[in-house]
Amino acid sequence: MKTVSRVLAAAAAAMIIATPMAMGAGKYRTPEQHNWSFNGPFGQYDRQAVQRGYQVYQQVCAACHGIKHLSIRHLGMPGGPFEYLEINGERTRFPNPNDNPAVVAIAEDLFPIEDIDDIGDVIERPRRPSDPFPYPYANEAQGRAANGGAYPPDLSVIVKGRHYGANYIRSLLMGYDQEVPEDVDVRPGNYYNPYMPGMLIAMPPVLMDDMVEYADGTPATIEQMANDVTYFLAWAADPHMESRKSMGFMVMGYLFILALLLYASYRKIWSRVKH
Ligand code: HEC
Repeated sequence: MKTVSRVLAAAAAAMIIATPMAMGAGKYRTPEQHNWSFNGPFGQYDRQAVQRGYQVYQQVCAACHGIKHLSIRHLGMPGGPFEYLEINGERTRFPNPNDNPAVVAIAEDLFPIEDIDDIGDVIERPRRPSDPFPYPYANEAQGRAANGGAYPPDLSVIVKGRHYGANYIRSLLMGYDQEVPEDVDVRPGNYYNPYMPGMLIAMPPVLMDDMVEYADGTPATIEQMANDVTYFLAWAADPHMESRKSMGFMVMGYLFILALLLYASYRKIWSRVKH
């Protein structure tokens, strides 16, 4: 018994000594927790933030990252950022994204798309809401060649695809201003970012204060843009979250009422039986 407790004590002491050493040897940082509007069982997306985030994606990230699982019309789908528009001071809902003026304008602003005309000739025409977003590269090799060998991943489901999800993306985007520790060797084409596993990232710092001019006048600080683009990417990765949560709530309510009814009938059915 004594040896067991001695071994345990030694192991505990080793852990206490080893922990700071492990940290010194360079462990990437846990992302900061952010208070997202969609946290919790009733949380919903902040539509204004998702709209601003789309603007950041389009003006900054789209140069290098695609969102291939989304079509333009998704922006106007139920639960999407442009489902409701403010027209002459009135909130108007557009049930069909193809008739939604904001979504149509977004589509027409993007690069034209290749199509074929009535006689089979290849033409370029303006995009429509039913089209996909343009992809920045023709193929992966081109993407790597343009980025010093690193491939910018598709961002449509990145929030689901990374540990710590939205908190990670936000911290990563804001994490370029940290002092480089002495034991980290930053080679050309890499940047120090303590939130990236490995702490070196081939993506340059892309956000700078006031680099976008928000349509709603919000000051575009780095943190604001990081928050907003993460809202957009969180919505993109899970556009049906809101309806799923309200469905879950209705199911719980239904089960609760059913449980009450079952209990009442149980009492009634067994009321004349002596226990
Ligand atoms: C100049 C091109 C460029 C731009 C602009 C750019 N990125 Fe990147 N991004 C990259 C490259 C290259 C990588 C791959 C980095 C690596 O593997 O080291 C990357 C990786 C990422 C990753 C994945 C990190 C990981 O965990 O693997 C995320 C998330 C990301 N970018 C988000 C964004 C967002 C959001 C924006 C817009 C605010 C943006 N990027 C703008 C080039 C870019």
